[in-house]
Amino acid sequence: METIKISPSLLSADWMNLQQELDNLSAWGADMVHCDVIDGVFAPNITFGMPMISALKKVSKLPLDVHLMIVEPERYMDKFISAGSDTISFHPEASKCPKQLLNKIRSSGIKAGIAINPDIPANVVKEFLDDIDYILLMGVFPGFGGQKFISEVMDKIDECKKYTYGRDIYVELDGGVTVDNIGEMKWRGLDAAVAGNAVFAAPDPKAAVKALKA
Ligand code: DX5
Ligand code: ZN
Repeated sequence: METIKISPSLLSADWMNLQQELDNLSAWGADMVHCDVIDGVFAPNITFGMPMISALKKVSKLPLDVHLMIVEPERYMDKFISAGSDTISFHPEASKCPKQLLNKIRSSGIKAGIAINPDIPANVVKEFLDDIDYILLMGVFPGFGGQKFISEVMDKIDECKKYTYGRDIYVELDGGVTVDNIGEMKWRGLDAAVAGNAVFAAPDPKAAVKALKA
């Protein structure tokens, strides 16, 4: 069995030392760097936008896993693409033209994903199966790191794995992942997990990445 991919979220990193944090993440064996873009409208927090992605891209040895929590992501998609995102997910309910947008991302050679909030049924992914490379299953309501995993989301992993069976689509879980609950997620077939607090708030972040992957 392949090991799960870990995408630490910069939301919980030390923003005064992002270059160091990025270097550490690749040295610690992380697989991607999760970049949470929040506009204060789709979700209650404001983080960063395209210029930050461009800046991170200049120094990151790891792929940038960009998660857009913004309304009308179509307004900024060209810029997130040219900024150097390696994967881009957005919330389909925030967009007027989700399929068109997924195709635009893919035709730029970038992996496209749809993010599914905890209160949205997993079966919405069915209409996007021909248009996506991954599903970002939210384990918390978007906005902040360090929230508690909503345990009802666990069953959605099985459901998404069922819908994606035989297709080249991976399932990534975002929000509330810990060293304690990731075992069950792996057992259910999860392919990738975002981990903010579980890595950056750990006494030994390097050991935390290792434990999450183990
Ligand atoms: C939630 C973000 C998540 C969050 C994960 O708004 O989309 O990526 O930073 O953080 P943890 O792992 O701390 O729940
Ligand atoms: Zn995220």
